Amino acid sequence: MIELKSRRDREKMRRAGHVVAEVLEILRDAIVPGMVTRELDRIADREIKRRGAIPVFKGYQGYPASVCISINDQVVHGIPGDRVIKPGDLVSIDLGATVEGFVGDSALSLFVGSPPDDRARELLRVTEESLREGIAAARVGGHLGDIGAAVQRHVESHGFSVVRDFVGHGIGRQMHEDPQVPNYGEAGRGLLLKAGLAIAIEPMVNQGGYEVDVGDDGWTVTTRDHSLSAHFEHTIFLDEDGPEILTAIS
Ligand code: MF3
Ligand code: CO
Repeated sequence: MIELKSRRDREKMRRAGHVVAEVLEILRDAIVPGMVTRELDRIADREIKRRGAIPVFKGYQGYPASVCISINDQVVHGIPGDRVIKPGDLVSIDLGATVEGFVGDSALSLFVGSPPDDRARELLRVTEESLREGIAAARVGGHLGDIGAAVQRHVESHGFSVVRDFVGHGIGRQMHEDPQVPNYGEAGRGLLLKAGLAIAIEPMVNQGGYEVDVGDDGWTVTTRDHSLSAHFEHTIFLDEDGPEILTAIS
């Protein structure tokens, strides 16, 4: 069942999205080579709570941390721990928070220091662009397939691949609500997009093949061919004026 949000809900989702954007920016600026990923979790947890918000990942289906840190061939859901961040690492940070009963969810990827090569640099750029394309394709009166088709077209036109096994999602009182929002599909197909729809669009893009595996910890998703992977995510709200990015970094 898809719950369309009211104007009051939208205000609360704006506040949740703002907290997520602020804390994600702090994490982005805090990353330095030599740091262990657990330190990023400590900062995320502290900065979320300092803003009167709740870390929504923590305890979600048993997930043990407030942030996901996924490095190089790790796609999503990396658990922070004692891994040391090295120069040239491709680090994806995924963060969610609840404010006044509503959730914001956003992710970004970055290279620590310089990218290892031009193709890696291109992967990061194309993944971020594909999120922009997906957002731009979301409009009232359109279809859910418009979003996935826009993401997929951009990614594949550059010779990269979109992950199939994990998708974006509706969002609101719960982090994961209906509908599922794939990063692939056909324009003009699927759910009719209506005003009041809130969704998280989150392309996960691999340099090699789209196949992924889940690790022994039950969480960490890696590319099967161990190629690099990047991830960007925004929570957006749809109405007749177009998509509003609730987790935009100012
Ligand atoms: N942004 C991710 C998602 O939408 C993060 C979930 S991590 C979890 O699925 F640990 F909370 F599950
Ligand atoms: Co999400």
